[in-house]
Amino acid sequence: MTKPKIRPAYPNEFVPDDYFKRLQSKELFDNDAPLEVDLGAGDGSYTLALAEHYPERNFLAVERLLGRVSKICRRAKARGLENLKVLRLESAYTAEWLLPRNSVSRLHIICPDPWPKAKHHRRRLIQQEFLETVHRLLVPDGIFLFKTDDDDYAEWSQEEVAAYPNLVPTEFPVGQFDPKSDFQLQWEAEGKSLKVIHCRNVPG
Ligand SMILES: C[S@@+](CC[C@H](N)C(=O)[O-])C[C@H]1O[C@@H](n2cnc3c(N)ncnc32)[C@H](O)[C@@H]1O
Repeated sequence: MTKPKIRPAYPNEFVPDDYFKRLQSKELFDNDAPLEVDLGAGDGSYTLALAEHYPERNFLAVERLLGRVSKICRRAKARGLENLKVLRLESAYTAEWLLPRNSVSRLHIICPDPWPKAKHHRRRLIQQEFLETVHRLLVPDGIFLFKTDDDDYAEWSQEEVAAYPNLVPTEFPVGQFDPKSDFQLQWEAEGKSLKVIHCRNVPG
């Protein structure tokens, strides 16, 4: 039998030794800096800006498309960012099965697919089961930050969050660094505005 070809990892790419085992706390970054995770990072503009702005924090960009992963890695290397890693994997799997529980200080989901057709709503990320995963992933007082351009998905997500007791909606802190993602710029250029859900993780 021929051996499968394994491509070498890109610079800044994180490739788990075992995709079926939960990571240990220092496997991603060998330091104690707070970890922020961006699920569905796209071209990475948003996470790259955060990682540059906050060198004292660690960032993980999660994206399933290889071309986008490669682009984020190239840009991270060009900027010399050592606090940003890129993981090519599915978002929900990463959050539920790969990342250590109680390890993430802020979780970002920016302009995810809104799945607008009613028959596809069950594919939306923001549902009770996923919010439970988010709660277990975040450290106490950790932040869940969600942005969407889709009014119906925003309303759906607000209702899901309201029904979930351990993520409490709070205001986005005034003056806090808040870079615009690639998709945000595209939607704003079309005259749309983003709805933001910013929640604090509480024990429960
Ligand atoms: C609409 S784009 C938004 C990208 C970026 N967050 C932004 O705002 O510019 C959604 C991104 O999520 C990725 N994506 C969609 N579903 C995913 C999943 N289940 N797991 C990982 N990435 C996913 C897509 O490949 C795409 O790059």
